[in-house]
Amino acid sequence: PLPAPFTVPLPIPPLARPVAPGRYEVTQRTAKVEIIPGTTTEIWGYDATFPGPTFELRRGDPTTIRVRNELPEPTSTHLHGGVNPPGSDGYPTDLVVPRGHSAHPHGGHPSHPGMRLNPVAKDYHYPLDQRAATLWYHDHRMDFTAPQVWRGLAGLALVRDEEEDALPLPRGERELPLLICDRAFEEDGSFRYPRAHDPHYMAGVEGDVILVNGAPWPVAEVSATRHRLRLLNASNARRYRLRLAPGGRFTQIGSDAGLLAAPVAHEVIPISPGERYDVVVDFSAYPVGSAVTLTDELAGDVMRFVVTRRAADDSAVPAVLSRPPERTRAVAMRAFDFRRTGDAGNAAWTINGRPYRPGAPLARPRLGTAEMWRLTSDFHHPVHLHLAHFQVLARGGRPPSATDAGWKDTVDVRPYEVVDVLARFDGHRGRYMIHCHNLEHEDMAMMADFDVV
Ligand code: C2O
Ligand code: CU
Repeated sequence: PLPAPFTVPLPIPPLARPVAPGRYEVTQRTAKVEIIPGTTTEIWGYDATFPGPTFELRRGDPTTIRVRNELPEPTSTHLHGGVNPPGSDGYPTDLVVPRGHSAHPHGGHPSHPGMRLNPVAKDYHYPLDQRAATLWYHDHRMDFTAPQVWRGLAGLALVRDEEEDALPLPRGERELPLLICDRAFEEDGSFRYPRAHDPHYMAGVEGDVILVNGAPWPVAEVSATRHRLRLLNASNARRYRLRLAPGGRFTQIGSDAGLLAAPVAHEVIPISPGERYDVVVDFSAYPVGSAVTLTDELAGDVMRFVVTRRAADDSAVPAVLSRPPERTRAVAMRAFDFRRTGDAGNAAWTINGRPYRPGAPLARPRLGTAEMWRLTSDFHHPVHLHLAHFQVLARGGRPPSATDAGWKDTVDVRPYEVVDVLARFDGHRGRYMIHCHNLEHEDMAMMADFDVV
């Protein structure tokens, strides 16, 4: 039986510990954990935890993470939002193959040109020449990202820098990462997931249990002070419209790719898979003893905060937060159409009419330039670019919404909507990707390469 909402305490994922300065090692393993009280769930976890450990990283401190795979299947790890060289970006056919696994990790598919098989472990190099931001990491194996993330292969990575350190934002136990995802469970506690690429799940797979940091509808005790909540939608397909009940505001301080120039207040935060919202909530606005529930318009309850006591608060949200990089002029404009093709029997999700084929790039932007990319869609498609951060220029021919503010790497393109983004191709040359972050759509081929030249 599922627990009553707000009975399980909110867990905070453990911090990853470096094995040497700038070096981490993490092992992907199966584990049995208690998610639904009284049952056990087999997960696939980085260091056998779900979510995986949180990496606390610093701008200017290059970091190497060795990922060792002791799972039954190959993996590829992508640092979402990272500005990383192509060999460390978690390309879907750049696989870490567990010991003893056959040379054909593709479950019968012919192997792809350019497929790389790294036996047992791989070192991912992250230069961390990028602004403070809430990043996350997750599996990215070609055709199997959705089921492998569903089993637990996801975690947070927080990049910090001096610009952020200088701000009087809430910190320590008043800074809470909240990785939100939905899952479905069998009676015995195991995760329920349909077979991969099941055409009944063209819209994606959703679950009826909302987990925050891996716990169902958890509860957290807070003092009546400002708290910084780093919201991540790590769901495969579920989008949320988050609110506070009995009312209240989120003061947004950051978006996917870092701090905003100035805070923006919202009553509702729409968050699609892959997106992050860095917000401050002031719990002194509620009486001590009251419950403040994070809710979603469709799923209902997400989690609850209970305001337990007054406390001193020297934090603040300054009117000027940061100096994000300026927009530069677009040197090119390209169009990417996200659409379902084919009929019921052989439907596929495509970009510009093509299902994903590794090594057939749809665009060749030049390093150091900005381009305007026009994204169009037949459905809700949260579109994500690797490497390149972007700003939303227009949505449906109108100015962007207040929640589109800042530099982002994922944007929800709504049904029959046109979203224009200005993307900067900085940092590295090589092969990257644009794809839908509805993970079932991604696995059903809604993905394309682009080469930075
Ligand atoms: Cu978070 Cu290519 O993905
Ligand atoms: Cu999609």
